[in-house]
Amino acid sequence: MPYNVKSGDTVASIAQKYGQGEEALLAANPQLEGREAEAGEVVWLPWEQEVPREIRPIPLDPRLLRLDGISAEQIRQHFEILYVGYVNKVNEIRQQLRTANRQAANPTYSEFRGLKKGETYAMDGVKLHEYYFNNLGGSGGRPGPRLLRALERFFGSYQRWEEDFRAVGLAARGWAVLSLDDRDQALHNYLLDSHDHGVVVMTKPILVLDVYEHAYFLDYGAHRAPYIEAFFRNIRWEVAERRWAKVGAA
Ligand SMILES: [Fe+2]
Repeated sequence: MPYNVKSGDTVASIAQKYGQGEEALLAANPQLEGREAEAGEVVWLPWEQEVPREIRPIPLDPRLLRLDGISAEQIRQHFEILYVGYVNKVNEIRQQLRTANRQAANPTYSEFRGLKKGETYAMDGVKLHEYYFNNLGGSGGRPGPRLLRALERFFGSYQRWEEDFRAVGLAARGWAVLSLDDRDQALHNYLLDSHDHGVVVMTKPILVLDVYEHAYFLDYGAHRAPYIEAFFRNIRWEVAERRWAKVGAA
């Protein structure tokens, strides 16, 4: 159910008003990552949901249109065509899944298989783009002490982490993702060749870099390295720090 944020409301107070936890509210409203709810905006109350409900895109943060080295047009096309397109496809696929023929399910080809494959691909596309856009719009530099200490602990030094993350960004066909892996409670830089290829289960993303050509082609043509440079200049480390504070063991 949508809720119109009023003056004086906070994430905590809205959750409290309904006797619910902040975590559920934040999970259903990824646009609130790293900031407070603002009067006049609409948030989704997940405990009041109608079933099944459609997913909605997060709003385009105006900070993303003023990045250093990544143009507003590049971001607009990436956000409005690619990201919103994945949101729409998730909804379309789930609509079709309501009536898809389960009896004919088959691993070589079937309508049901096509829809389920598409659902995984599109939903990962939605979530990875939300992580990516949410961790952009800052002023780069280095993370705060807690995350910095964790990078030093797991990679030897900040410099070695950054060198490895940049290399993953150059080697990947889709994404470079700094993640906490539940398996060993350690940070890793993981490589994804597409949204649904290379995803390591039970990992918690801390910093996400999109290296698909659509993320930089307007600004840099086929030159990916200067785009990765620009990404580092615009990281919103406080968002990554909050992700780490939420899940981090160190
Ligand atoms: Fe993308």
